[in-house]
Amino acid sequence: MTDVEFQNARQRAEELRSIINYHNYRYYVLDSPEISDAEYDALMEELRTIEVEYPQLVTPDSPTQRVGAEPLPSFEPVQHRLPMLSLGNVFSEQELRAWYQRACSLLGEDEAALVGEPKIDGLAVALVYENGRFVQGATRGNGLVGENVSANLRTIKSIPIVLRGQAPESFEIRGEVYMTRSGFEQLNNERAAQGQPLFANPRNAAAGALRQLDPRVSATRPLNAWFYQLGWLEGGSAPDTHHEVLRWFAELGFRVNPLNRRCATIVDALRYTHDVGHVRDTLDYDIDGCVVKVDRRDWWDELGYVGREPRWATAYKYPPQQATTRLLQIDVSVGRTGVLTPYAVLEPVRVAGATISQATLFNEDNIRRKDVRQGDWVIIERRGEVIPYVVAPVASRRTGEEQLFEMPDRCPVCGTPVQRRPGEAMTFCPNPRCPAQAYRRVLHFASRAALDIQRLGEKLALALFTAGLVQDPGDVYLVTKDQLVQVERLGEKSAENLLGQIEASKQKPLRNVLYGLGIRHVGEQTADALARAFASLDRVAEASLSDLEAVPDIGPIVAQSIFEFFRDADNLRVIDKLRRAGLCLAQERVTPATEGPLAGTTAVVTGTLGRWTREGVQDLLRSQGATVSDSVSRKTDLVVVGASPGGTKLKRAQELGIQMVDEDGLVAWLRERGAAVE
Ligand code: IVH
Repeated sequence: MTDVEFQNARQRAEELRSIINYHNYRYYVLDSPEISDAEYDALMEELRTIEVEYPQLVTPDSPTQRVGAEPLPSFEPVQHRLPMLSLGNVFSEQELRAWYQRACSLLGEDEAALVGEPKIDGLAVALVYENGRFVQGATRGNGLVGENVSANLRTIKSIPIVLRGQAPESFEIRGEVYMTRSGFEQLNNERAAQGQPLFANPRNAAAGALRQLDPRVSATRPLNAWFYQLGWLEGGSAPDTHHEVLRWFAELGFRVNPLNRRCATIVDALRYTHDVGHVRDTLDYDIDGCVVKVDRRDWWDELGYVGREPRWATAYKYPPQQATTRLLQIDVSVGRTGVLTPYAVLEPVRVAGATISQATLFNEDNIRRKDVRQGDWVIIERRGEVIPYVVAPVASRRTGEEQLFEMPDRCPVCGTPVQRRPGEAMTFCPNPRCPAQAYRRVLHFASRAALDIQRLGEKLALALFTAGLVQDPGDVYLVTKDQLVQVERLGEKSAENLLGQIEASKQKPLRNVLYGLGIRHVGEQTADALARAFASLDRVAEASLSDLEAVPDIGPIVAQSIFEFFRDADNLRVIDKLRRAGLCLAQERVTPATEGPLAGTTAVVTGTLGRWTREGVQDLLRSQGATVSDSVSRKTDLVVVGASPGGTKLKRAQELGIQMVDEDGLVAWLRERGAAVE
C-alpha cells in the first residue's frame, strides 16, 4: 500500500461517512429520503470495503458500526448529573386547569404559554454529546443512577452519532426509546413461531431490547427514539423557550415529534390533548397521554419542584388500552362467509372506558402460537374502533388447571364437518345454508355502509331468522308490520320506523347494493369500482373473468370470487327478490373511470385533512374520473397525505417513489390537470 493510496482511502471514507450520515438523517429522522435504497446500499458497501481493507480507518462513529458491538459482561452504572425526574399526573380537564392555575398564581401571571407533547410510552434515556459527537447514553434507572447503554443506542439509526450544525461544547439531551407497534407485532410473531414467550406490549419489548447485553441483538430489534428535553449544557447556550429548544434539537439532527405544539393558552392545551387523543390509535407507537410544559424556561426555575415532580410540567393521562383478566372459556362463532372465529369469553373487565367480556382470538394458529389456554389470565387490548383481542397469556399465573383448546371438527351451528385448506389459517363451514352464515349475511346487508337499515340489529335479525321470516337479504323486503310486532314484540312505532328504513333503503345506490350482497373479497371500494365500471348489477353478473379483471384494483382472486357469486342459483334468487322489491340495480354511467380530467389516474387518501373530509376528497377525485384506492400499489399515481397518515401507506409510497402531496399540493395537482377543485 502506498501512502497516497492510504490517504485517498482515508479521505474517501470520511467523505462517505458524511454522505451516509446525511442520508441516514433524511431517511430515519425526516422520513424523507433523497436517494433509493439501492443507492444507499452502494454507499455503505463502498465504505465497508474501504474499512475492511484498512481496518485502522474504522472509527467508532462510522455508520458501519451501527450493527452492534461485542457483548458486555454487565452494564456500567452512570450517575446522572441532573436527576431524571418523573411527572405528576392529571386525569381530567379540571385537574389540568387546576395544575395550570397553580403554576400561573405562583408565577404571578394571568397566563403562561405552554407546549403540548405526546407522552411516549417507552423508556427514558439521557444522551451526552461532546463536540458534536455522541459519547454516552444511559437509562433512567432509579432517576439518580442509570445504566450505560451507549452500545445499544448506537444501533438505533435515527439517533445521531455526529450532530449537524453548530452544537454546544457538551450537553445532555433526554428522550424516549420505544418500539413501533408494527415492529412489535412482527417481533412477537417471530417469537411465537419459535415458541418463545411473548412481550405484553411494545414498551416491555423495547425495555428488553435496550437492556440487551449483546448490542448485536439490540440492533435487530425495531427500536426508535423521540427527543423532548434538554438536560445540562456547557460551552454554549440554548434558546429561552421550550418550543424553540425543540426546534433547535431538530436542527441538530434529533428526531422530534411532529405532533408537538405550542399552545398559547390553557384552552389551546386542552384542545391539544383532545386532538392527540383522536389520532392516538392511528400512530405506530404507543402514547399514554400528553405532557404539558410551561414554554418559558426561566419560569421553570421559579416554579421548581414538589418532591420529585416538576411544577412546570404535568402528564395528562388517557385511559389505559390494556387490562388483565381471566379467560373463562374459548367459544367459536361462525361468520358471514362461514369462517370459524374462536373468541375468548372473559371475566368482564374495563378497558379504555368500556366493559369487555369477549375478545377475539382470530384463528386456531394464533391460539397455538400464543399458547392461550382456557382458564388463563390474559392481557386484553382495545384500541379505538378495533375489536378487543387477546394479546398474550400471563404464563406466570398458571395453576396447572388450564385447558388446551381444540377447534371443533364440526360447525357449532349446523354440524357440517368443517374444512381447513392447506396453507390457510382459516377454518370454515362449507355449508352455504348454514343458519349462522345466512343470518350474518342479512346483518351485513343491513349494515350502515350497505343498505343502512340500522334498526335491523343482531337480536332482531336472529329472531326473524329463527321464525323463518328473513332467511336472506331479499326477504327483508317481504316482512310486514304484523309479523314484526308478533315476532320481536316490537311496539307499533318501532315497527313502523323499521319499515320506513327498509323502504328508504330501496333508494340506495348500486354500489351499496353490491357491497351489501356480501360477495367474498368485495369491500366498499371494490363495490364502488364495480358500480362505476358496469353501471348495472346485470352487467356485473354477466361479466367475464377478463371483463372483471380489467376493472382497476380487481385482481384474479377477487374477479374469480365475483364470477362465482353470480353463478350460484341461491344468490340469483336473492337478486331476483331484490329486483322485485324495486331496489336500485342500475345507475346512469355518471362518471366512468375513463372520463373526466383525472381519467386513468389512481389516488390514495390517508390521514385527516382539514379542508375536506376524507370522503369529500375521494368523491371529488372520483367525480372527475380518478380511481380511488385503499392501498398504495405500483398503479397509484398520487397519495394525498393528511395529519396522522397510515404508516404502511407512507412507507409503501416512499418505497415505490410515488408522488405524495398535502392539501395544498393536491389543489396544485388538480389545477395542473384542469380538474375542478371544489
Ligand atoms: S419530560 C421532568 N416529555 O414520562 C420532566 N417526558 O412521567 C421530564 N415521557 O420519565 C420528562 N414522553 O420517560 C417528558 N414528551 C415527554 C415525554 C416524557 C414520555 C416519559 C419519560 C418520563 C416520564 C415521566
